[in-house]
Amino acid sequence: MANAFTRWFDERAPGLAPTYRKHMTEYYAPKNFNLWYYFGSLALLVLVNQILTGIFLTMNYDPSATGAFDSVQYIMRDVEWGWLIRYMHTTGASLFFVVVFLHMFRGLLYGSYKKPRELVWVLGMLIFLVLMAEAFMGYVLPWGNMSFWGAKVITSLFGTIPVIGKDLVEWIVGDYLPADATLNRFFALHVIALPLVLLLLVVLHLAALHEVGSNNPDGVDVKHGPKGNRWDALKPADAIPFHPYYTVKDLVGVGVFLIVAAFIIFFAPTFGGWFLEHDNAIPANNLVTPAQIKPVWYFTAFYAIVRMVPSFAGTAVWGVIAMFGSIALLFALPWIDAGKVKSVRYRGTGYKVALAVFVVSFLCLAIIGMDLTDEYLPRIFGSDIDLTTWDNVIGRIMTLAYFGFFVFLWLYTHLGWEKTKPVPERVTTHD
Ligand code: HEM
Repeated sequence: MANAFTRWFDERAPGLAPTYRKHMTEYYAPKNFNLWYYFGSLALLVLVNQILTGIFLTMNYDPSATGAFDSVQYIMRDVEWGWLIRYMHTTGASLFFVVVFLHMFRGLLYGSYKKPRELVWVLGMLIFLVLMAEAFMGYVLPWGNMSFWGAKVITSLFGTIPVIGKDLVEWIVGDYLPADATLNRFFALHVIALPLVLLLLVVLHLAALHEVGSNNPDGVDVKHGPKGNRWDALKPADAIPFHPYYTVKDLVGVGVFLIVAAFIIFFAPTFGGWFLEHDNAIPANNLVTPAQIKPVWYFTAFYAIVRMVPSFAGTAVWGVIAMFGSIALLFALPWIDAGKVKSVRYRGTGYKVALAVFVVSFLCLAIIGMDLTDEYLPRIFGSDIDLTTWDNVIGRIMTLAYFGFFVFLWLYTHLGWEKTKPVPERVTTHD
């Protein structure tokens, strides 16, 4: 029966089976993938979770300034399993960024952005941009007080642009303050426009990857030719079919991921105010500013960069330029890094140190952007130390370190300073 069904399908859609084979059973992936290679498939899993839970949330959500907050409360209290659907969506949002940050870091570790995978990387960066816009707009929808003030702060960043800034903010917001019109358009963008763009970009991301093949922890090309296995000489000898080998391996990652996600969803859904901020349990109020206006954790590093750059010539636009610059530099990474060796395993010590400094700078900026100064630090250090100044000093050094990474990498690889280790002929495994 199965054969008859396949034949029926083949006759009517002859392109489908070859496409399936090209991307699954005959997509040869290097056999030495390690833990870092779980995060692409996990990102796909979270994307599906966000879309499915999002559809169910939309069924009961009311995108109006008067109804939004109450409709979220209704979902939490009255809709059957509504609390679970909402917590799956809010936890999914944070875990999306956890997974995507690790996925990007893997790219830095193994030089996956280098030739011939520049397009895969650039498409990934576009995904990252759209993901940030998607998360920001989703955050505004519950119309809590942090939604309102977050929307106000982020949209007013555009107000720093000379000449057109003020009009631009009004155009984006659709009013003088975030209001009904803002909520309506953010809803439209969050539930349909951006998810469509995201899906399209993910398809292109994978299509681009499958044209050139996956990189691997050794950063060397997989070799073709027989090596005592049953494939013909044209098939890679150091690679294995994606399905079933990596689909099964990825299931292990999925299992661990689901355990972690379930633990958060059932036992710590707000994650101490990191995944769902406390001030967002209060309805939006344009007359009451929250004690601290700070974005959710995944934006804080970029937000800290805005604040660490001092106003200059009467405008704060430099901070905004620096923030966009910090993302633009990541886009340009394949051209900034001219090193011939891909994997950190065989790269020069300079690269290893620079990458470590880059990660530390990003984490420090993320912590500084969380604005813990008033909340926790005085409890630890007492109130005598001027912690705001320390925040600024460390934050500025870390901002310089962040940008310094790219400057160093350009010099290091373009001026031939890098001393690399010998790269193995074939991929290495520990079996
Ligand atoms: C919704 C978000 C994303 C999804 C669903 C996704 C999905 C995937 C999948 C399934 C793979 C193949 C498996 C793997 O290598 O882990 C992959 C590879 C890759 N992705 Fe993503 N990705 C996303 C975001 C990004 C971002 C933000 C970047 C970087 C800017 C990126 C850069 C890459 C690179 C360079 C590869 C090739 C890695 C290699 O072969 O070593 N991806 N992606």
